[in-house]
Amino acid sequence: MSEDAVDRAWAGLTAQRPFPPPDGPCIALNMVMSVDGRTAIDGRVGALTGPIDQGILRRLRASADAVLVGASTVRAEGYGALLRDAEQPLLAVVSRSLAFAPDAPFLQDTGSPLVLLTTGEHELPDTPRELHSIVAGTLAGAIDILRAEHGVRTIVCEGGASLASSLFDQGLVDEVFVTLSPVLVHDDDQPTIARGEGAVQSLTLIGHAAEASFVFNRYDVGR
Ligand SMILES: NC(=O)c1ccc[n+]([C@@H]2O[C@H](COP(=O)([O-])OP(=O)(O)OC[C@H]3O[C@@H](n4cnc5c(N)ncnc54)[C@H](OP(=O)(O)O)[C@@H]3O)[C@@H](O)[C@H]2O)c1
Repeated sequence: MSEDAVDRAWAGLTAQRPFPPPDGPCIALNMVMSVDGRTAIDGRVGALTGPIDQGILRRLRASADAVLVGASTVRAEGYGALLRDAEQPLLAVVSRSLAFAPDAPFLQDTGSPLVLLTTGEHELPDTPRELHSIVAGTLAGAIDILRAEHGVRTIVCEGGASLASSLFDQGLVDEVFVTLSPVLVHDDDQPTIARGEGAVQSLTLIGHAAEASFVFNRYDVGR
C-alpha cells in the first residue's frame, strides 16, 4: 500500500474541515460498506476493507481520544491493539450482557486503557489489563461520564449497526465517515450502517476522495 494514497484520501476528507474538528467535542461514526450497502461479509468486515481504508481508520484512531465500539463487533473482530508503534486511544466497549470469552483479544493487555460502558446488570469480565467501567441507564449518560472522567473529547465510533442506531436515536452523532467498497455482497442477512426505525436524516458532504476503486466520504450530520 502506498502511504501517498492514504495521504491523498486523508487530504480529501479533511480539506474543508480538519479532523478532529476544531470547534469542540465530537462523535464521528466510521464504517465501510459495500455498493449494495452491507457492512459485513459472512459476519466479518475483512473482505470489505482494503489497505487505504485501513490507513484512514488508523488516522482516525490516531486523532481520537476514544474508540467506541459495540460488543458484537468486538466479538466478531477481536480488537487487539488499536495502533502499533503509536500512542493508543482509549477503547470504550458498549455491552449490556458483558458476555465475552476470557481469551478475547481486547481483554488482553494491548497497551490502551479499556472502559466498558454498561447498564450494571452483569459482572465485569476478568482481565489482566486495567479495566474501568461506566454504569449508566443511557448511552448519552455513559458518554457524558466517559468525557468527564477520562478527559475524552474526540470519539470515533467504529460500529456496528446496533450501536450506530443507538447513537443516532439519541442524537449523538456529529459526523459520518463512510467508505464505499467496490463489492456487491448480495446477502440480506448482513447488517447495513444503522438499523432501526428513526426519522429520515439529511447529511451534508464535507469531505470526499477516491482511490483504487474505493470512495471515501465524510458527512456532517448537522445536529
Ligand atoms: N463495515 C464496518 O465498518 C463494520 C463496523 C463494525 C462492525 N461491522 C460488522 O457488524 C457486525 C456487528 O454489528 P451489530 O450491529 O450486530 O452489533 P454491534 O453494534 O457491534 O454490537 C451490538 C451489541 O452492543 C451492545 N449495545 C449496543 N447498543 C447498546 C446500548 N444502547 N446499550 C447497551 N448495550 C448496547 C449490546 O451488547 P451485548 O450483546 O453485550 O449486550 C449489543 O448486543 C459484525 O458482523 C461486524 O463485523 C462492520
